[in-house]
Amino acid sequence: MLNIPLPDSTFKDLRDYIYEKSGIYIAGTKKYLIENRLVRILQEKNLSNFEDYLKFIRITTNGNELNRLFDAVTTNETYFYREIEQLNVFMNDVIPKVLGQKKGSSVVKIWSAACSTGEEPYTLSLMFLEKGYNPKQFDIHGSDISEAVLSSAKAAVYNSYSVRNVPEIVMKKYFSSANQSYVLNDSIKKTVKLMKVNLIDDKNMRLLRNMDVIFCRNVLIYFDTKSKQKVISHLYDCLSPGGYLIIGSSESLHNITRAFKPNVLNKVIAYQKV
Ligand SMILES: C[S@@+](CC[C@H](N)C(=O)[O-])C[C@H]1O[C@@H](n2cnc3c(N)ncnc32)[C@H](O)[C@@H]1O
Repeated sequence: MLNIPLPDSTFKDLRDYIYEKSGIYIAGTKKYLIENRLVRILQEKNLSNFEDYLKFIRITTNGNELNRLFDAVTTNETYFYREIEQLNVFMNDVIPKVLGQKKGSSVVKIWSAACSTGEEPYTLSLMFLEKGYNPKQFDIHGSDISEAVLSSAKAAVYNSYSVRNVPEIVMKKYFSSANQSYVLNDSIKKTVKLMKVNLIDDKNMRLLRNMDVIFCRNVLIYFDTKSKQKVISHLYDCLSPGGYLIIGSSESLHNITRAFKPNVLNKVIAYQKV
């Protein structure tokens, strides 16, 4: 692979551009990451330096190029049944509370915002089914800024790392294996509606409303305080009154907002819209 140096000043301009478009803040110590991940695009476009790439990405009207930039700078680590304590609290404590609050409709609306390759929303669907709910009782949305991860989510073919925490009985019922890959059954795939949503974008954030529970886990860590505040305030507006927000267990809303009531359930925090 070509070795194209990324000058500090261009790195800063590129970082500001990425921040403006996605809210993702790239620290100076991560410059190498941008350098390594974008060099392939430069090569493909026959660009000899990052200054030309920056000019190109600023003037291009082709949304695909911006998507490729997002794909290159995002970190997509995820797996089924991640942070199981939170998931158990969701299923055993939060869902009964939500159902208790709902009048009329008993369809629970869930959104996995920043779902990466789909493991999180599919896990929620598997948990509902294993708990005896039928698919008409829950409505699950999964979204991400990166089109590459969303197409993987649509394909729903996983490796052993991704499925390592899936209980054996669930594995047998809902996955088939081929060539060391694990393919999720269509019956589960069709319970999750996947779409592209940029959490920092005002217009995008009007797409999903009246959610009962929003999962926004392990994405806030990529944002600075200002972006976190913007995203969290958007998510607040997307929730129904009394709805719940669940963020990653290593993340916090401290200094970000006081709009939510933190409910501690079995040592897990579920932030409630009041
Ligand atoms: C580490 S993954 C988290 C996946 C899953 N929520 C979990 O906890 O396992 C973070 C995801 O956030 C997405 N992301 C980053 N910035 C975003 C933004 N502005 N809008 C929507 N998604 C974003 C990335 O594309 C990536 O797939």
